[in-house]
Amino acid sequence: MKNRLLELRQLLHQYNYEYYVLSQPTISDYEFDMMLKELQQLESEYPDLYDPTSPTNRVGSDISTDFKQVKHSFPMLSLGNTYSQEEVIDFLNRAKKLVPEDMEIVCELKYDGTSISLTYEDGMLVRAITRGDGEQGDDVTANVKTIRTIPLRLQGQDFPKTMEVRGEVLMPWNVFERLNQEREEQEESLFANPRNAASGTIKLQNSKEVSRRKLDAYLYSLLGTQLPSKTHYENLQLLKSWGFKVSDAVKVCKNIDEVFEFINYWNVERKNLPVATDGIVLKINSLAQQEELGFTSKTPRWAIAYKFQAERACTRLNSIDFQVGRTGAVTPVANLDPVQLSGTIVKRASLHNDDFIQGLDLYIGDMVYVEKGGEIIPKIVGVDLDARLLIGDKVRFISKCPECNTTLIRYDGEAAHYCPNQMYCPPQIKGRIEHFVSRKAMNINIGKESIELLYSKGLINNVADLYSLTLEDLISLERWGQKSAENLLKSLEESKKVEFHRVLFALGIRFVGATVAKRITNQLSSMEAISSATIEQLMEIDDVGERVANSIVDFFSNEQNVDIVNRLKQIGLQMEGEKSEELISDKLSGFLIVISGTFSQFSRDELKLMIEKNGGKNVSSISSKTSFLVAGENMGPSKLEKAKSLGLKILSETEFLNLLK
Ligand code: IVH
Repeated sequence: MKNRLLELRQLLHQYNYEYYVLSQPTISDYEFDMMLKELQQLESEYPDLYDPTSPTNRVGSDISTDFKQVKHSFPMLSLGNTYSQEEVIDFLNRAKKLVPEDMEIVCELKYDGTSISLTYEDGMLVRAITRGDGEQGDDVTANVKTIRTIPLRLQGQDFPKTMEVRGEVLMPWNVFERLNQEREEQEESLFANPRNAASGTIKLQNSKEVSRRKLDAYLYSLLGTQLPSKTHYENLQLLKSWGFKVSDAVKVCKNIDEVFEFINYWNVERKNLPVATDGIVLKINSLAQQEELGFTSKTPRWAIAYKFQAERACTRLNSIDFQVGRTGAVTPVANLDPVQLSGTIVKRASLHNDDFIQGLDLYIGDMVYVEKGGEIIPKIVGVDLDARLLIGDKVRFISKCPECNTTLIRYDGEAAHYCPNQMYCPPQIKGRIEHFVSRKAMNINIGKESIELLYSKGLINNVADLYSLTLEDLISLERWGQKSAENLLKSLEESKKVEFHRVLFALGIRFVGATVAKRITNQLSSMEAISSATIEQLMEIDDVGERVANSIVDFFSNEQNVDIVNRLKQIGLQMEGEKSEELISDKLSGFLIVISGTFSQFSRDELKLMIEKNGGKNVSSISSKTSFLVAGENMGPSKLEKAKSLGLKILSETEFLNLLK
């Protein structure tokens, strides 16, 4: 068994490298997951074989950590940077004056993430530190271990005994977009760009969440007292041979023309890369020449960053619209004179919130700079004060809802203003209906304009009213024929089959996005159970924190909401979870089981599912009726105390899994 454990570790390191670094997987995801689970099981049986570089560290843990500050063995300096090609020529001329021999220049992409310094001892990753203030940074080793492209153990033999490798941690564009979409659903503030998302993620207290966010890393330098090669380029190639992800976009240039060829090529081609880049880094190749050139107080004289111009335009600010969303949040949007920017015509830009507007000190009629840099949505980055005519008013945030005139409120600690008139404010009513019918929710075949029309005719005022619409109602509307009316009615009928978790999501409860709705219905299998759950019961569910729990309790304490949900139930929407698949066994039948704490092999949700599949019932609080408690790490002392005082049987995760074998 011990041999199997060691073999699994080695195989999983190899498969991980093939999948993430080479992008050439040799086994299926399923096989990989199964082997990882097997390894986790074996590691829990043989704790004496603990290895901090085991592939099981990639999944992270729920235990939160405060970061230790660690001093860098070599300070982490920054690069001098420029936007001008002349200054690149000046830099090379200066270097040539100081070093008369021939000089090679390595050109690399400048990755736009957050820098990291990795220490390896005897080929094992022992520490990962953020840049911090350059002298010392945070020890984020547990988080960095979840990054699949960073080797925990090096390949080959010829690496230095102790070495430091530096590079950039990045969040790929597709991961960034997905994360922001999820955050939008849960009404969390959005990351402005992948750089902020990467640096926010690497500093998270919970490495499991870091693991879920799928960061990537490119390495760009090797440091140590005895380096294997005398040139930067060869050291990079060695890093690659030890299993690191080193970009292929690296070129040794012999002259200025080759440097500019590289710059011009990548200024266009970088738009096709999966990660954000913001320039090119030029480095003198020879380490001896680097030493000769040395450093100024802050930056090396042997390297410079040429930064790409963020695409920017200047245009007139004509007016501001304040839009009210389905949750009552008010978003200010700037209306601009149309202007060409990065291949699209920009007419509007978000102004986010009051703080953002105050920061810009805007007046209507101002000429404003609009940029589309790392961001997807164009934003106003400044005002051309020289062109200010001061003929328009200062832009101020409104105090009343533009739609229903209710006084806006701003919650403590939140940047947004809200209209609290949830039940009667028209865009909130229409917004809730639009959300209800959307594809990820009830998937009902009706567009925004039709909802607007039905609402304005007084035919729908809430989501339940949709199901009272008749063929006559619909065909009497402008531009509605028999066919489209029948389609809508058919689609409404179909929606009665939509699964329970999507019905919960469709209700539009604040902070209950599609993923959270699924988690909740996994645990509480009917609308009845959810509506009567306490804050504490709700908070026992993975991903449900105080904010979500409060919002659910709030929602169901409103009579109008309860009334709508009851009507939906009578109409025949799914208000109960589809029973999870067949039982695997009835080993736990009749048992009431409490799960508490954090676990290493399975998530709490997975353990709960196992209980259900084996005929048991998972309950949230300990009482004399509880059959036993499965205790993970970090469980609350009061719970443990209570279990002991009742004389309850307490099982560890492994004991519980053995019970099911
Ligand atoms: S070399 C002495 N190479 O740019 C500094 N840096 O100020 C050596 N960066 O935040 C840095 N891509 O993390 C180097 N190919 C690359 C890079 C790179 C991105 C970042 C670095 C730092 C900033 C430099």
